[in-house]
Amino acid sequence: MQKNGFGMVSWTRRLVGLALLVLVAGAAAGEPAGVRSGYEAARWHPLHFKPAIETATDEQCLACHQDILDRRVLARSPAGVETAEALAWYQTLDTYEGAQDTLHRRHIVTPFASKVMNLSCNFCHQGSDPREEAPGSSATAVAVGSDSGFTLRKMVNPSETCLLCHGRFTYELMDGVEGPWHEVRQDFEDEETQNGCLTCHEELFRTVRHGVNYLRPQAIEDLAKSSSDVCLGCHGGRAWFRNSYPYPRHPWPDMPEEVPEWAKNRPTESKARFLVGVETQ
Ligand code: HEC
Ligand code: HEC
Ligand code: HEC
Ligand code: HEC
Ligand code: HEC
Repeated sequence: MQKNGFGMVSWTRRLVGLALLVLVAGAAAGEPAGVRSGYEAARWHPLHFKPAIETATDEQCLACHQDILDRRVLARSPAGVETAEALAWYQTLDTYEGAQDTLHRRHIVTPFASKVMNLSCNFCHQGSDPREEAPGSSATAVAVGSDSGFTLRKMVNPSETCLLCHGRFTYELMDGVEGPWHEVRQDFEDEETQNGCLTCHEELFRTVRHGVNYLRPQAIEDLAKSSSDVCLGCHGGRAWFRNSYPYPRHPWPDMPEEVPEWAKNRPTESKARFLVGVETQ
């Protein structure tokens, strides 16, 4: 066979061979005709897209992504900072325990996280599109809008996920709380009262809360008895944002009839997808 300068012929042949191999392998794995297996097929696996991602179980995701929970942080950063010696401000909350860990492990498997939360992969991951990682970028990409599941070049939609637990402490909305918690907490807390939030939130205000499938409401209340850092942890104590989530405002017993101005457009129920599997009280 005559060879050209770039070895074109043999490359074409190899490609055809490879394509055949992939097809045969796909058929052998019992996949529908036309679906290829291998890396590309996995990357474009329907589970990454709506609607399949909405009902995917963690087991289905972990079948391919087990490393997400196994992987650990480096012992030292590339610049040489020892992990064990680095302390972030949020690690000073009372509830923080254990060594530095990855984002995924800190939300799914670390002791405090698994006590107070029940986060599944698809709580955060509502879609992925390897093509542009951008909603609305083509006719086949997911539409731009709040329900597209992820935002430009991000894996998630932070405003509907992270912000729920990492917004700021909105003392302005709380009559009787005059400033940021670290400034006023001593007015509410002493030896006997370890959790000043409960002065108001045990019986008076917004007592119907956390009835969603990704939190463990009873465990939160039990743990919170001994420190307001439990509550603050998700309501300003680890604020990555300068804004806060406009929480639904569930009616509570003896709730004042008048709705404050800021609450006029608030929903009165949690999002439907967070109520799946929740027993109604
Ligand atoms: C059949 C195997 C398979 C299944 C099942 C699967 N994935 Fe993937 N996923 C992949 C592969 C392969 C990639 C591409 C990884 C890369 O390029 O580094 C990927 C990419 C991703 C990415 C983007 C990574 C990046 O860096 O762009 C996310 C996020 C993701 N998967 C989440 C999920 C979630 C959540 C589920 C369950 C709903 C899931 N995957 C199910 C194989 C799978
Ligand atoms: C608390 C929200 C949250 C949960 C829960 C979550 N993820 Fe992620 N995931 C993210 C964010 C944010 C990123 C992008 C940041 C990064 O790359 O570390 C990401 C990145 C990824 C990636 C691609 C980047 C990488 O590190 O390889 C994969 C794959 C992935 N997640 C899979 C999963 C699987 C599987 C689960 C369930 C076991 C899961 N995630 C649960 C928020 C979450
Ligand atoms: C349902 C509540 C909740 C949601 C949603 C949530 N977090 Fe968290 N996050 C927590 C809690 C609780 C901790 C502390 C866990 C612990 O102490 O082990 C935490 C810890 C962290 C930490 C510190 C990790 C470390 O190494 O110490 C980071 C960073 C973080 N979250 C980022 C995010 C991002 C980014 C998102 C969105 C993709 C997100 N979180 C979504 C509750 C949440
Ligand atoms: C002096 C009483 C008081 C204290 C102390 C207090 N709050 Fe509040 N809180 C309120 C009132 C009043 C509201 C608004 C009630 C309403 O919806 O009309 C409120 C609302 C909230 C909301 C809902 C905000 C929204 O946007 O819907 C959260 C979350 C909250 N408080 C958390 C906390 C946490 C966490 C602490 C302790 C770190 C705390 N509060 C301490 C009185 C208090
Ligand atoms: C693991 C994170 C986490 C912890 C810990 C936590 N919260 Fe929340 N809280 C949330 C999330 C997420 C929501 C929104 C749930 C929803 O959409 O209904 C919420 C909602 C609320 C609301 C609004 C209630 C309503 O009308 O629906 C109040 C008030 C509140 N939390 C106070 C507290 C207090 C007080 C504590 C401590 C006893 C506490 N939170 C502990 C995450 C947390």
